[in-house]
Amino acid sequence: MKKILVAMMVMVMIGSIAFAGGTTETAATGETAAETTVVRNADKPVVFYNRQPSDPVSGEIDMNTMNWNDSTFYVGFDAAGGGAVQGQLIVDYLASADPAVIDRNGDGTIGYVLCIGDVGHNDSRARTEGIRKALGTWAGSTDPGVVQEGSANVGGTTMKVVELEGRAMTGTDGSTWNANAATDAMSGWATRFGNQIDMVVSNNDGMAMGCLQASNYPAGVPIFGYDANADAIEAIGQGRLTGTVSQNVDAQATATLQVLRNLLDGLTGEDVWTVGITEPDQYGNKISADMEYLPETKALLAQNTGVNASNWQQYTEGTRDAGISQTTAETKRVLLTVYNSADNFLSSSYLPALRYYAPLLNLELTIVQGDGQNESVCLDRFTNLNNYDGYAINMVRTNSGPDYLDRLRY
Ligand code: BGC
Repeated sequence: MKKILVAMMVMVMIGSIAFAGGTTETAATGETAAETTVVRNADKPVVFYNRQPSDPVSGEIDMNTMNWNDSTFYVGFDAAGGGAVQGQLIVDYLASADPAVIDRNGDGTIGYVLCIGDVGHNDSRARTEGIRKALGTWAGSTDPGVVQEGSANVGGTTMKVVELEGRAMTGTDGSTWNANAATDAMSGWATRFGNQIDMVVSNNDGMAMGCLQASNYPAGVPIFGYDANADAIEAIGQGRLTGTVSQNVDAQATATLQVLRNLLDGLTGEDVWTVGITEPDQYGNKISADMEYLPETKALLAQNTGVNASNWQQYTEGTRDAGISQTTAETKRVLLTVYNSADNFLSSSYLPALRYYAPLLNLELTIVQGDGQNESVCLDRFTNLNNYDGYAINMVRTNSGPDYLDRLRY
């Protein structure tokens, strides 16, 4: 009985491996021969996206994770460049502002409050640094409260700048980049600082829109976000939001999928990050936006652009990349995780873009979404791994790469 059971188990295992590998048709000497390729999960493509494998404290890139196999890459955007774009957007705004209007209490100082987001996330850190450097409040750290007095040109006059408070917006459930936490913080700030607040800066649009929800938001005070989510672009059009930064979500979503497509089509070396990206692929697709590849971190990055009242119309919904149309490629299955189903940027911008482009590249996505706090919510559904040809991973904590990769070992 025991022997029969073991034999049955072996048959089931062989069955699942054969299923995982799929079947390839090869034409040999005029005949068609069927041959089964068994690809071990450990050799399949892995693309980390949006949350770069890195140390949450130092920000150092986790190269052990990135070197998992030759088919492991990160797709994101130029975070440092984006911080600088956001800083410049704010500085340009101040340069053309009327000091008598923007300095609400006339004390000669521009006071601002900062929604930091996730202190353990490289994107958030890069923005805090870019903003503080542009305003002169940078004191060598992205931590809340570590600031110095800065200065800026406000309509031709040099004025002092102070960061009244910077806060990491953590929700009551422990999730980061939390828009409700920003609403609460803004209410508190408006009461506590009153008309010392001349400007509100947020490291993402979700929190900026959260601030605007505060019933005591000081009317007319300029406010900046980041991401160019559809509701933020609309708010710029309505004059409620002053500016945001586009991290080019269409380019990132397409690149995440294109890198997977390339790897699944058997491309290697630089073809992985150039085909369909800087040059057309065999199906005629090519991302229209510029992307930069950093070989030392295996990172493919989109570029940022500032958005304000002068150009918001270019960013309205429906601007999908016409460079990607359709492939005749074989359908492949990808398991994709999203760290938090409630993240504004991922749910309102990134996921719709992935859902739009995936069928065009013949990638069938199975999406599992977490709660932004417990890695296990995603990990518990990072299962049936043999059923997929590749994986796209968005971790809750940026140092959780090994937890996902361990599951691909066998
Ligand atoms: C976005 C944030 C988002 C975060 C999630 C960042 O790049 O700007 O809005 O919450 O990614 O990881």
